[in-house]
Amino acid sequence: LISGRGSNMSALIDATRNPDYPAEIALVISNKPDAAGLEIARKHGIATLSFSQKAFETRDAFDQAIHKALQDNAIELVALAGFMRILTPRFCQQWLGRMINIHPSLLPAFKGLDTHAQALAAGAHAHGCSVHFVTPELDDGPVILQARIAVLPDDDEEGLAARVLAEEHRIYPEALAMLADGRCEAMKATLSNTALVSQA
Ligand code: GRF
Repeated sequence: LISGRGSNMSALIDATRNPDYPAEIALVISNKPDAAGLEIARKHGIATLSFSQKAFETRDAFDQAIHKALQDNAIELVALAGFMRILTPRFCQQWLGRMINIHPSLLPAFKGLDTHAQALAAGAHAHGCSVHFVTPELDDGPVILQARIAVLPDDDEEGLAARVLAEEHRIYPEALAMLADGRCEAMKATLSNTALVSQA
């Protein structure tokens, strides 16, 4: 699921070109019909769909339309790659343990938006990115992989973002492979318990 330029999506597509990679990208869905990533996916011969929020009365209706599209296409795992929309708790539960996200910070630090600005404002010495399971709480699920970089004395938002993005492209394919080939099973078991507790 994407909303924009799709560079993480491209990194995943590139990884799947290796015949030994344990997953394939079967469908790319965007909530923005003009997302640049859609064109990249099409050029790779990957099916794409876009759903405009305006066509749906509620968040639930929107998310359930995506859910149905995923089911209709026999999708097994969902990778959020710059999908700039908060998903409903119902959708998160439907894909619990089967949906991951890439977030540009060392979670649990700097959740939400503008993470590079947040890191600079906080005077962080280290920054990076995290691939995590998606749960109903924003940027909160268990972390599968992280990459850490040093914040340099003269770093600005742009420079930091570029160095973090290079790490995102490295760890996202690796984390998806871990999930697809069964290396996250123990973590998934914890996840169901945690989600049940937080719902209570
Ligand atoms: C990335 O920085 C990702 O961590 C965040 O949104 C951005 C998406 O970039 N969730 P791209 O569309 O993958 O290039």
